[in-house]
Amino acid sequence: MPAFSDTLVDRLASASRVVVLTGAGISAESGIPTFRDPDGLWEKFDPQELANVEAFLDNPELVQGWYRHRRQLVEEAEPNAAHRALADLETHIDALTVVTQNVDALHTRAGSSDVVELHGNITHNYCMDCERPAEASTVDAAIAEGVPARCPECDGLIRPDVVWFGEQLPPAAIERAGTAAERADVLLSVGTSAVVYPAARLPLVAQEHGAYVAEINPDTTGITEAVDESIRETAGAVLPSLRDAVAAPHDA
Ligand code: APR
Repeated sequence: MPAFSDTLVDRLASASRVVVLTGAGISAESGIPTFRDPDGLWEKFDPQELANVEAFLDNPELVQGWYRHRRQLVEEAEPNAAHRALADLETHIDALTVVTQNVDALHTRAGSSDVVELHGNITHNYCMDCERPAEASTVDAAIAEGVPARCPECDGLIRPDVVWFGEQLPPAAIERAGTAAERADVLLSVGTSAVVYPAARLPLVAQEHGAYVAEINPDTTGITEAVDESIRETAGAVLPSLRDAVAAPHDA
């Protein structure tokens, strides 16, 4: 007995536009720690010490080193069955947009073609002053020497291309995500605790505009009470069978 309803399958199979909002939970099965689970990143590190501009300027080597560690985890990780199922699902739906809070680039590596990275991409770095892209090897070399990584062009500090607490999300990404949510026939919220805004508002925006909203998460979240369907399972358990159900030819 699948964990999801026939209604969800029918709504997906007949949808023109689908949005899938994802969070750290979809990458958990790739071995990448989430933020707020019991063994999550924020259990071990204080975001106020690492994921904001003041902390970075106060100790650039520490922050550059932490993001390098997380970048290496991401580069060693592989997309999992949930990422791949979303990429497959694109072939059965006219327009499927993945709006991710994750910075691990695993949706793109899995083959999803329309991905909005709300919080940036940890494999990219840039100079804080001239904003030129910076090679990861420049960061790695500086860390190996025990000095802050600096731009070869203007000597500015190099930072990861991720959104830190207190920073604005990329306006173009927010615009694309908001428009997609307003137009969606179905929105799936997968592997997010739905406590960080503006991402957490997207399921409610979609629902206000008529979308059917389902959540895939073994735990309850900030939006569980509001969604049309809450599937209390892991992404890796649900998305492959949901893809199969949507792809299965309808009974004549
Ligand atoms: N499948 C689906 N969901 C899962 C799985 C899984 N295998 N494992 C864990 N989860 C769920 C947890 O129950 C939790 O609700 O994933 C969610 C992860 O929540 P968070 O750790 O808060 O991650 P996220 O929602 O992505 O955080 C949002 O907060 O710190 C910032 O910028 C950071 O993008 C991040 C944002």
